Amino acid sequence: MKKMDDNLISLYSSSDIKNRVEELGSEISEEYEKKEPIFIGVLNGSFIFMADLMRSLSIDCEMDFIKVRSYSGKKSSGTIQLLKDISADVKDRNIILVEDIIDTGLTIKFLRERLFGSSPKSIAIATLLYKPSVAKIDFKIDYIGFEIPQEFVVGYGLDYEQKMRHLNGLYMIKNDLSE
Ligand code: IMP
Repeated sequence: MKKMDDNLISLYSSSDIKNRVEELGSEISEEYEKKEPIFIGVLNGSFIFMADLMRSLSIDCEMDFIKVRSYSGKKSSGTIQLLKDISADVKDRNIILVEDIIDTGLTIKFLRERLFGSSPKSIAIATLLYKPSVAKIDFKIDYIGFEIPQEFVVGYGLDYEQKMRHLNGLYMIKNDLSE
């Protein structure tokens, strides 16, 4: 196993992220004034983004989490498994689904369809990162932190084999860590 730090290239610093998350928070606060949205974070990756995004809001809101598994190491498995469902009743509510990253788009497509089955008033999507060259989706992503190239990214909640979520910034992995 190679030493971790030699393999990381900085993509966004913690202050870049903080500034962008605050911009998203202001935008959402403006657009959801009096709509009392419920934020649904997709575990595990979104937990830090969700915490910072919620603290940048100036409106009333609620939150819940849902957990799925779609990745193993750096590869999408192509199938989504639901590991934990929401406990809130979202009928007639304005949902904002919060993802860490949209890569192929499979996860967000699965969750969006599933949540529409609970008859919400609306569903919007907020993602910290978006890989436009990879994502295959036919619906709008309402709030995007950063569009990034087709690279595997870690830090700020995102992991490689459950590690590196704790890093304050976002990093690309240069080489395969298993080499
Ligand atoms: P998708 O279904 O391919 O869009 O992938 C979505 C999920 O895969 C995200 O919520 C992440 O958990 C994981 N994922 C995709 N790309 C990356 C990455 O570059 N770094 C870390 N996790 C990723």
